[in-house]
Amino acid sequence: MTTATLTGTAARVENAVKVYGAGDTAVRALDGVSVGFRAGRFTAIMGPSGSGKSTLMHCAAGLDTLSEGAAYLGDTDLSALDDKRLTLLRRDRIGFVFQAFNLVPTLTVAENITLSIDLAGARPDREWLDALIDVVGLRDRLHHRPAELSGGQQQRVAVARAFAGRPDVVFADEPTGNLDSRSGGEVLGLLGDAARRTGRTVVMVTHDPVAAAHADEVVFLADGRLVDHMEHPTADRVLDRMKAFDGAASHSPGPSDPSRPSRQEGGSS
Ligand SMILES: Nc1ncnc2c1ncn2[C@@H]1O[C@H](COP(=O)(O)OP(=O)(O)O)[C@@H](O)[C@H]1O
Ligand SMILES: [Mg+2]
Repeated sequence: MTTATLTGTAARVENAVKVYGAGDTAVRALDGVSVGFRAGRFTAIMGPSGSGKSTLMHCAAGLDTLSEGAAYLGDTDLSALDDKRLTLLRRDRIGFVFQAFNLVPTLTVAENITLSIDLAGARPDREWLDALIDVVGLRDRLHHRPAELSGGQQQRVAVARAFAGRPDVVFADEPTGNLDSRSGGEVLGLLGDAARRTGRTVVMVTHDPVAAAHADEVVFLADGRLVDHMEHPTADRVLDRMKAFDGAASHSPGPSDPSRPSRQEGGSS
C-alpha cells in the first residue's frame, strides 16, 4: 500500500487555472478549481460540454500542465517533475481509460493487458493480473485479438490494462462514449467494482447522468469552476442538477467540443 492510499486524497488540484492560447483567443478552461479525489473511491467529474472536465483530468493526471495552481498525485507535486519523471509517474502510478479503446490490434487481449508492464521491463504480478482478469470477465478471451471482441469487451480489456500495473489512480475520460447503454453499464459497474475490490481510486469524466450515477460521488464543473458536489448520486438527481446549468451554459461564448454536440443525449441512455 502506498502513501497515496493512506492519506485522504489520492489526487488533487489546488487553485487550478488552465488557459489555452493567448490574447483575444485565450480560453480559460479551468478558472480556479480546488478538488481532491478520495482514495479508494470512484468519483465522477460531471458538467456540460466545454466545462473543463477533460482539462481537469489531463492536468490531474500529468498529461497536461496547469497555467497556475498545483496538481498532486498523493504527496507528489506534479509541477516539480521534469518530463522524464512525469512520464515514469504516469507509467507507474496512473492508469488510463479513454473513449476510444486504444488497444493494439496485433496483440492479443493478454498482451494488451500487460503491454505497459512489458514495455517497462517490469515483472508482472501474476496474482494481481489473475484476479483482475476475473473481475473484468475476460478469461475465455485472453488469446483473442481486439477485432474479435465487441466494443464492451474491448473496453473491459482497456479497464484491465489500466489496473494491470497496480496504479494509485485510474483516470477515465468518457469511457462509455462509444458503447451502447447495456455494455456501457457493464463497464461502469466494472470500474466501481475494480476500485472497491482493489482499493484503487477511479476518477471518471462524463457528461452522462446515468454514467455518473455509478460513481460513489460526483463533482460538478461549469465554465471551468467547481460548482457542486454530490454523494451517492442517482441519475435523476444528477440530471436535475445538470438542468440548472443549462441556462447559464448556453450563454457561454466559448467554443465547445464539436464531437459532443448535445448534452441532452445522456438522459436517454
Ligand atoms: N487544446 C486546446 N486548445 C484550445 N482550447 C481548448 C483545448 N482543449 C480544450 N479547449 C477549450 O477549453 C474548454 C474546456 O474544454 P474541455 O476540458 O475539453 O471540456 P469538457 O471535457 O468539459 O467538454 C473548452 O472551451 C474547449 O474548447
Ligand atoms: Mg471532454
